[in-house]
Amino acid sequence: MRTKGAHIHFEEQWNQFHLSNGEVSYLFKISEDGKLLHLYYGKAVSNSRDYSYLVEMQHRPMTTYRQEGDLLYSLEHLKQEFPEYGTTDFRHPAIQLKQKNGSFITDFRYACFQVIEGKPSLKGLPATYVEAANEAATLLITLKDEVTKAEVVLSYTLFSQLPVIARSVEVKNPSQDVLYLENLASLSLDLPDQDYRWVQLSGAWGRERYVKERDLQQGIQSIESTRGISSHQHNPFVALKRKNTTENSGEAIGVSFIYSGNFLIQAEVDTWDVTRLQAGINPFGFKWELQPAASFQAPEALLVYSDQGLNGMSQAFHAMFRNRLARGKWRNENRPVLINNWEATYFDFDEEKLVAIAEKAKEVGIDLFVLDDGWFGERNHDKAGLGDWFVNQKLLPKGIGSLAEKIRALGLKFGLWFEPEMVNKDSELYRQHPEWIIHIPHRTPQHGRNQFVLNFANDEVVDNIFEQMCKIIDESQLDYIKWDMNRPLTDIYGVNLPASQQGEVFHRYVLGVYKLYEQLTTKYPNVLFESCSSGGGRFDAGLLYYAPQCWTSDDTDAIERQKIQYGTSLVYPLSSMGAHVSITPNHQTNRLTPLKTRGNVAIFGAFGYELDLNKLDPADCLLVKEQISFYKQHQSLIHNGKFYRLVSPFEGTRNRTSWMVVAADQSQALLAVYKGLNEVNWPYDRIVLHGLDPEAVYEIEEKEYTGAELMNIGFIVSDSSSGQINEQNPLPETFDFDSKIWVIQKRGERK
Ligand code: GLA
Repeated sequence: MRTKGAHIHFEEQWNQFHLSNGEVSYLFKISEDGKLLHLYYGKAVSNSRDYSYLVEMQHRPMTTYRQEGDLLYSLEHLKQEFPEYGTTDFRHPAIQLKQKNGSFITDFRYACFQVIEGKPSLKGLPATYVEAANEAATLLITLKDEVTKAEVVLSYTLFSQLPVIARSVEVKNPSQDVLYLENLASLSLDLPDQDYRWVQLSGAWGRERYVKERDLQQGIQSIESTRGISSHQHNPFVALKRKNTTENSGEAIGVSFIYSGNFLIQAEVDTWDVTRLQAGINPFGFKWELQPAASFQAPEALLVYSDQGLNGMSQAFHAMFRNRLARGKWRNENRPVLINNWEATYFDFDEEKLVAIAEKAKEVGIDLFVLDDGWFGERNHDKAGLGDWFVNQKLLPKGIGSLAEKIRALGLKFGLWFEPEMVNKDSELYRQHPEWIIHIPHRTPQHGRNQFVLNFANDEVVDNIFEQMCKIIDESQLDYIKWDMNRPLTDIYGVNLPASQQGEVFHRYVLGVYKLYEQLTTKYPNVLFESCSSGGGRFDAGLLYYAPQCWTSDDTDAIERQKIQYGTSLVYPLSSMGAHVSITPNHQTNRLTPLKTRGNVAIFGAFGYELDLNKLDPADCLLVKEQISFYKQHQSLIHNGKFYRLVSPFEGTRNRTSWMVVAADQSQALLAVYKGLNEVNWPYDRIVLHGLDPEAVYEIEEKEYTGAELMNIGFIVSDSSSGQINEQNPLPETFDFDSKIWVIQKRGERK
């Protein structure tokens, strides 16, 4: 890592701010009438230069101007930091503030600024952080609207050693009147052209975060969630990459919104090819009442600039999320290899069956046994029990404590599944508190998987669940919690809130989720949390602040998983991706894949198993043992190394997927190649590697190569399916969905 610092310069003679860490520059200036005009964002440029020439204005017909008698100064023509609507700009604004007289137009102007070392935290919200003041510098700029008296504080934190800027906004109401915030973008960035491809991660349950791309066009392109969770459909992340950008070269700008609820990320390309990129809470269904003296803090959005392709962008996100978003003991410690009983038993288990799975797990080297759905209340199927976080007496008559003891006696850690935000009507909690579900008076609420959503916008509800969970955590001395969430929100309404605050329910719900996470992680710092939402329905940076790993997808098929993990890796580190080996035929795709490949895919994640090991034959059990030992040997490299995507499963031109991970000191790397269907008379195939030391000598399967060879010529991965069976080629041992991981070990410097 570089040792350059983050600097925030204010050049008074030009009213110009320059944020720079030697790698990236972010520049803007204050106009004569106090508007913040964006100048430049990209690769670092020199300091102490007047960049005002970047403010381009032309006289253009059919537009409007700020000052009478002037035919030049129009905000419509200008790139801005905090754009507003209705004062000569017609693009989407960063704020919409409804006032007593019904107007929603504001005209915020610069008031003052402050530079602080380090980075302040955001109250009640997940955010990146620093551990030493010199890791980042923060610029806070206050703007004021003269008529409403409202104030806006824009926050920019530049990190010293990563090309990352964290942005957020706070709105304050020092006036005597109530104001209503109807829209607030955490980030608004005007880029000078539209020559980008827009990259999003979208999909559905079971195929989350597929990479989808398109060219930007005049007009608006956006992704959003209206489901109350970040969603399977669209991840709160977008990259804009240049048309010639590849995985390893070219420019890319990534935006990740650190939030777990409704979001909107959009790029509006105007008539002069300026691209306005914005990220924030989705204005749809949002309206926040700002009482006199109250303030509203928007969530954080992270901006990453890379001139080293998408891999460069992803590596910056990975380093940030792993080291300065995730917190607590499990941030740095090796995660336990787990076994989860869900696909092994579903609801059909008893203590004996579970202990038998755990015994076998111990034998092969697994560290943690996780009991999934079904252990609580009257939960014998998915129509009852949610909300009752005490043991299911029918299934486990001796209690959770007894099971936990038995598991622990085997030398394993013990974890449990919860779905804290949900309730079934058939539960004690619902019978006592039917008013606690999210519902609209006089309307019948909709269900999802036979369950209803608890109103986490109500502290009383959150407190009840916290107490119930504490009891069971204490009783069974839990080491791990899987926090699930299996349906989107409907019937949005908070019976605990007045009519004027109904637009707050979605956001207050997310704040309630964060509050419960904060309370639990503070009280139980040793418990490892894994988030989940029917697989990857809430795989977002917001939850990574509390839970350093997330169940990536309910689809455990090793072939599908290549796409899901490849897409997820655009933003999220391998250490955050829960990845399990399951049984075949696979329960989601009905596909047969080799155990070897299932292991080779899941190893590039937070690794575990989700099957009954007692049903495997001895040869497979041995392979499982080898997989676990390989993973443990390389876990630190996999989780902390630099990850490079090499061959995309989405492009499909080579019937291959490939990626590699390289240690920070370049002394070791792992290369993985996964094949699709076997083919006959296969073409020769090489893969060009990345991230190695060109001067070093590396050993792969007892043969030596220089780093330069591997990165310029490539490494041969052709397999024996390129031949035909005969005397000289008796048994080409390759098959459909074959795969291989090579260990690349540095042996010294080139002589
Ligand atoms: C969700 C999760 C699964 C499993 C089930 C249990 O679908 O994603 O991993 O925990 O719930 O009901």
